[in-house]
Amino acid sequence: QFGFPARSKPVSTDPNNCLNLMPELKCCPDRNPKKIVDFKLQPQSSPLRVRRPAHALDTEEAQKYERATALMRALPDNHPWNFVQQANTHCAYCSGSHRQLGLNISFEIHGSWHFFTWHRAYLYFYERILGKLINDTTFALPFWNWDDPSGMSIPPIYRDNSSSLSNPTRYLIGLKFIDLGGCEGNNTVESLPMQRQCNLQVMHRQFIAGFNSSSLFYGSPYRAGDNSFPGGGAIESSPHSSVHRFTSSDMSIVTRAARDPIFFAHHANIDRLWAIWESIPGNGSKVFNDKDFLEASFLFWDENMQLVRIMVRDVIDTRKLGYVYEQVPLPWMNLKT
Ligand code: C2O
Repeated sequence: QFGFPARSKPVSTDPNNCLNLMPELKCCPDRNPKKIVDFKLQPQSSPLRVRRPAHALDTEEAQKYERATALMRALPDNHPWNFVQQANTHCAYCSGSHRQLGLNISFEIHGSWHFFTWHRAYLYFYERILGKLINDTTFALPFWNWDDPSGMSIPPIYRDNSSSLSNPTRYLIGLKFIDLGGCEGNNTVESLPMQRQCNLQVMHRQFIAGFNSSSLFYGSPYRAGDNSFPGGGAIESSPHSSVHRFTSSDMSIVTRAARDPIFFAHHANIDRLWAIWESIPGNGSKVFNDKDFLEASFLFWDENMQLVRIMVRDVIDTRKLGYVYEQVPLPWMNLKT
């Protein structure tokens, strides 16, 4: 398990020190916060939000999501809920821009044990902002169910060029079959069953690789003062990065990735895999006794227009955050290899 270095500290975001290291993207937040509010889990007053497979949304669900995203895109450029500002939040944490509190060292959220945690918090606020924009407290992000054969291509809601959910710079990869890691085929009827099988094997191998070891699953410890990328977990490399590459265009460039709305469906699926792992008896307790993990904190604008500091300990349980994933088959879980 993880060791506890003497006098170690959790990483935390500095609200007053963000360097625009990518001048062409200007990822740092536009607004300087007057005040930062500590995040508090609220007792659930509304029903749990249920995140469903993107390819299985009904027309009404798809239209809601489309409308909420269109409203987000239409906000003034410097509004913290604006679509590009939201995408920049991801960029600021992966371009070396955000600094660690009190240290002149970048705060990087990939390649360490904060990969799952940061992205869960990010989607949490993003989902609630979208819900707020359409006045719907049950609005839930869809997930890209690429771990099941039924979801192994770009879901239809992301393919319509006139939709707020499309990305005009994404290649027209159309119905191309996904590659979760070394499974590229020529997309012929003959190659599809092999690609499908290969993808399921990648899923099985990567998920089971992290089954019994927290550091293989989450990635390596990352504490205040540490350099970026101590090492990522199995799922972060593939399928996570493979899907970014496959989707091409913005999605394949980490600092631009969240400018493609499909990013959020991709990461909802990553988050769902974490939730599945957490639900396996015994797994939950494996990492959560390290306070440098639990007390790490990030900054996000919330759905009440407040800048909020959220700690990892608050994102461990999706139900406490007010959402769950629809249960769908896991054809890779017990695969015979
Ligand atoms: Cu923050 Cu899929 O990357």
